[in-house]
Amino acid sequence: MRVLLTGHQGYLGSVMAPVLTGAGHEVVGLDSGLFAGCVLGPAPDDPPGHPVDVRDVTADALAGIDAVVHLAALSNDPLGSLAPELTYDVNHRASVRLARLARDAGVRRFLYASTCSVYGASGSDLVDEDAPLRPVTPYADSKVRVEDDLLTLADDDFSPVFLRNATAFGFSPRLRADIVLNNLVGHAILSGEVRVLSDGTPWRPLVHAADIAAAFARALTAPREAVHARAFNVGTEQNNVTVAEIAAEVAEAVPGSRVVITGETGGDTRSYRVDFSRVRAALPGYEALWTVKAGAAQLVEAYGRSGLTEEDFRTRFTRLAWLSARRRAGSVDGALRPRGVVGSDG
Ligand SMILES: NC(=O)c1ccc[n+]([C@@H]2O[C@H](COP(=O)([O-])OP(=O)(O)OC[C@H]3O[C@@H](n4cnc5c(N)ncnc54)[C@H](O)[C@@H]3O)[C@@H](O)[C@H]2O)c1
Repeated sequence: MRVLLTGHQGYLGSVMAPVLTGAGHEVVGLDSGLFAGCVLGPAPDDPPGHPVDVRDVTADALAGIDAVVHLAALSNDPLGSLAPELTYDVNHRASVRLARLARDAGVRRFLYASTCSVYGASGSDLVDEDAPLRPVTPYADSKVRVEDDLLTLADDDFSPVFLRNATAFGFSPRLRADIVLNNLVGHAILSGEVRVLSDGTPWRPLVHAADIAAAFARALTAPREAVHARAFNVGTEQNNVTVAEIAAEVAEAVPGSRVVITGETGGDTRSYRVDFSRVRAALPGYEALWTVKAGAAQLVEAYGRSGLTEEDFRTRFTRLAWLSARRRAGSVDGALRPRGVVGSDG
C-alpha cells in the first residue's frame, strides 16, 4: 500500500514510519518540520516526504495514495490553549480539508489520530467508545470536531477510522518530554525529584508509542467492515493509572529519586479510565504490550545513553517551549509555519 503519513517527523510519526515500512508499505511523509530537530540520540532515517504545512496541502500530494495516516497536529493541551484559533485551523479545518482531498483523490482509508482526552472529565468509571464526549480543552475539542466532520464523509469508497490514543510514553528518536511519563522520568534524572504538580489523583491511561504504531499498522489492513467509520480507544486497561501511581513507578526506576506531590495546580479536570476491548476485538492479535514500568526503564536507559541536559529537557523536548523559542528566533512565523515552507510569510 502507498501510505501518506502526515506528521512523520514528530514523536509518534518517527516511530510509526519504520513500523509501516517494515510492514511492507511504501510510506510518503508530509510535515512542516516544526520539531524535525528535536532529536534524542542519532537522527532517524526519515522516509521521503513533502515539506508542506497541512493547511496548504494540494491534491497532488494525494495522487496515487491508497491510505492516509493523519498525525500532523498541534499536539497537546498547552499548545492548544496558547493559540486556540490556530489549533482549530491546523487540527480541525486542515484535517477536514485533507480528508476531502483524499476522498476526491480516491484514497480508501483515512486513519485519524484522535485522543482519549475527548472523554475529558469522566471520573473513575470505565469509558468505552460510546461514552459521551466531554472535551475540556481546545485541543480535545478540535479532535471531537474532526471526528464529527469526517463521519459525514464516510461512504462506500472512503473509510475514516478514529484511533483515540491514550497518552503516549516511551522512546522515540524525536522525543517529547512534555507527556507525563517522559516528563517525570527526565525530571527525576535531572533533579532527583519526581515532581507532580497536580494532587496526583487524576486517572491517565497510558500507551507506548510502539503500541500506537502497531495499532495503526493493523488498522490499515483490517477488513473494511471491522473499522469503517468507527472509533477505537488505543491502549490497555493495565495502564489505566493515576498520576500518583505513575510517579511511584518513576521513583522506582530512577535510583535515588523521590516523589514530591506539590498539588500547586490542584485537581485536574482531565481524568478518565478507559475500556480498550473494542480495538482488541476488531484487530485480532492486537494487544498493547508495554507496561509503565518497562517504559520508565527504557526512558532511563535512553536519557542516560544520550546524556540528557536540563536545557534540552526544558526547551528542545517541550513542544510549547520549542515553538516559542523558534518564534522568537524568527524561524517560525506567527501562524506557526516554518520560514521557507510553502505558505509561510518569509
Ligand atoms: N503523544 C500523545 O500522547 C498523543 C496522544 C493522543 C493523540 N495524539 C495525536 O497523535 C498525533 C501525533 O502526536 P505526536 O505526539 O507525535 O506530536 P508531535 O508534536 O511530536 O508531532 C506532530 C507533528 O505534526 C507536525 N505538524 C504540526 N503542525 C503542522 C502543520 N500545520 N503542517 C504540517 N505538519 C505539522 C509537526 O511538525 C510534528 O512533526 C497528533 O495528532 C496528536 O494529537 C498524540
